[in-house]
Order: sequence, then C-alpha cells, then structure tokens
Amino acid sequence: MSHCSCQSHKQHSLLPAVHRILSITRHTPLEWNFRVAVDYPAQLGQFVEVSLPGVGEAPISVSDCGEGWMDLLIRKVGQVTNALFTLKEGDNVWLRGCYGHGYPLDAFKHKPLLIVAGGTGVAPVKGLMRYFVEHPDEIASMDMILGYKNRDCVLYKEEMAGWSGKHNLILTLDEGEASDAYQIGRVTDRLQELVLRSPETMQAIVVGPPVMIKFTVQMLLEKGLTAEQIWVDYERRMACSVGKCGHCRMGDIYVCVDGPVFNYATAQAFAD
Ligand SMILES: Cc1cc2nc3c(=O)[nH]c(=O)nc-3n(C[C@H](O)[C@H](O)[C@H](O)COP(=O)(O)OP(=O)(O)OC[C@H]3O[C@@H](n4cnc5c(N)ncnc54)[C@H](O)[C@@H]3O)c2cc1C
Ligand code: FES
Repeated sequence: MSHCSCQSHKQHSLLPAVHRILSITRHTPLEWNFRVAVDYPAQLGQFVEVSLPGVGEAPISVSDCGEGWMDLLIRKVGQVTNALFTLKEGDNVWLRGCYGHGYPLDAFKHKPLLIVAGGTGVAPVKGLMRYFVEHPDEIASMDMILGYKNRDCVLYKEEMAGWSGKHNLILTLDEGEASDAYQIGRVTDRLQELVLRSPETMQAIVVGPPVMIKFTVQMLLEKGLTAEQIWVDYERRMACSVGKCGHCRMGDIYVCVDGPVFNYATAQAFAD
C-alpha cells in the first residue's frame, strides 16, 4: 500500500494546488465521494484542506488512496461543501496537505483489529478496512462495527457487500427494520455482546461523533483493553492545519499536527 512520507514540499505548504476530479460517487444525497488525481502518496487517516477559490476551505480526511488518486468522502453541511456538490467529473478542486498523523498500520499488523465507527466517521477508516480485507494475511482478525442512522445513510454499500464473508462486518442502524445485513441499535450494543478475540493483543480504532467515541472507549476499557491499545480520530475546528494559528489547540496538543489520529493513552488527557 502506498504511504505518504509527506516529506515532500506539499506537506507543509500553505499554498493550495489544483487537482482534477476523476470521479464522483453519490453514496447518499448528502455524502459524495470525490476521487481526485494526486501525484503524491497519501497516508490513510491524514487530512487535506480542500478549497475552491473565492469560497473557502474545509479539512477533509483521506478516506482511501492508491497510485495517482485519493478519495475524499464529503458530507454537504455548509459553505465549502455546498459549493463542492455543484462540481462534476473533470472539474478542479484545490488541495493543500496532506496534514497530520494517520493510522500506524504497522502497529496493527498480525494482531486482532477491532474498528468501531459511526456515520461519516466510517470514511477515515474505509481505506484501512479495504486494505486489510485485500491483505488478510497481514492481520490476525478484523471485527468492524459500523453504525448509521438508517438504511439511507449507509456508506460504501456495494463495496462492503463483498467484505462480510472475509471478516466480521456488523452494520447497525439506529432506526428501521433488522435484516440479514443490518442489526438495530447502537454500536455499543453490538460491542457489548462481542466476544473479543485475544483482548491482550487486540488493537481498537474508534471514529465518530465525540459522544460515540466516549462511550465506546469506556466500554473497551471495561472489556480489558488498555489505553495504549485504543486509537481515536478527533475532528476539531481548524484553520491553518500546520500548527500555527491555535484553532485546534487542546492544552499542549495541536490536533492538526499531533493528530488527528491519537493513541488514547495520549488523548485521554484532553478527551471530552
Ligand atoms: C481533521 C478533520 C477531518 C475531517 N474529515 C471530514 C471528512 O472526511 N468528510 C467530511 O464531510 N467532513 C470532514 N470534516 C468536517 C468538515 O471539515 C466540516 O464539516 C467543515 O466545516 C465543512 O465546511 P463547510 O464550509 O462546508 O461548512 P461550514 O460552512 O463551515 O458549516 C459547518 C457547520 O457549521 C454550521 N454553521 C456554519 N455557519 C454557522 C453559523 N454562523 N452559526 C452556526 N452554525 C454555523 C453549519 O450549519 C454546519 O453544520 C473533517 C474535519 C476535520 C477537522
Ligand atoms: S489548525 Fe492552526 S494550529 Fe491547528
């Protein structure tokens, strides 16, 4: 898999560079994936600042990447994202980054991995899950508990349809009817009943709204994991993304450069 060494001139540059949109996939009316052409490798879990001239910029996670492309799963919520949703394939966007620390893939290799993610929080871990689905020999096991509000909010339906036989993929919905594919309830309900494989070596990743992270981490600690075995991904209001403006500062931590992926042993000092 390609990793961003991000030692290139692009990482710390504050100058946005133009990138072409290769394809747009409409997962839901409010969540589209923009595949953009890039000529540098990206690391899963890092983020880029996406901008349009005269409109503004927004930090967006690298949700997947490969040779010459990067996927950005964007939820339409405001000024910049509204403008991005008017674009079509072949149009240009401007990017600066990649920024921050992504997921430490080597820390997960050959260990049991548990991923708990909710809503658009699934996006930052999608590429990581795809990688281990495609390279099952590099992981001891993988449990994925992904929660959505209802069926219409589910992301990556088609791609993940082929995943469930290879790893333990559990999809939960807050509302709707249960089926073979979906269970009703919160991700923590499914986590509560999950028998953890080798909790002493397991690594867990938790991504989603702050309240979901809080209760999921609490349950993982109760199930015997240590803070060092848990990884969290925090979104905070950002501006410069390079550790200069202080917008994302929490105590001594700058989420843009020290995160957004943190080991919980570090994050517990500033977590909500
Ligand atoms: C590290 C990181 C990674 C991220 N990754 C992703 C990702 O992968 N995908 C994704 O979709 N998002 C991601 N986000 C979130 C994204 O950056 C924000 O949603 C961003 O604000 C969108 O920009 P916008 O200009 O479209 O929205 P904004 O115009 O900034 O609006 C954002 C929210 O603020 C509200 N708002 C705006 N103005 C006001 C006001 N005056 N008063 C009250 N409320 C207001 C809006 O209603 C909306 O809910 C990430 C954020 C961070 C920090
Ligand atoms: S966003 Fe400016 S210091 Fe982090």
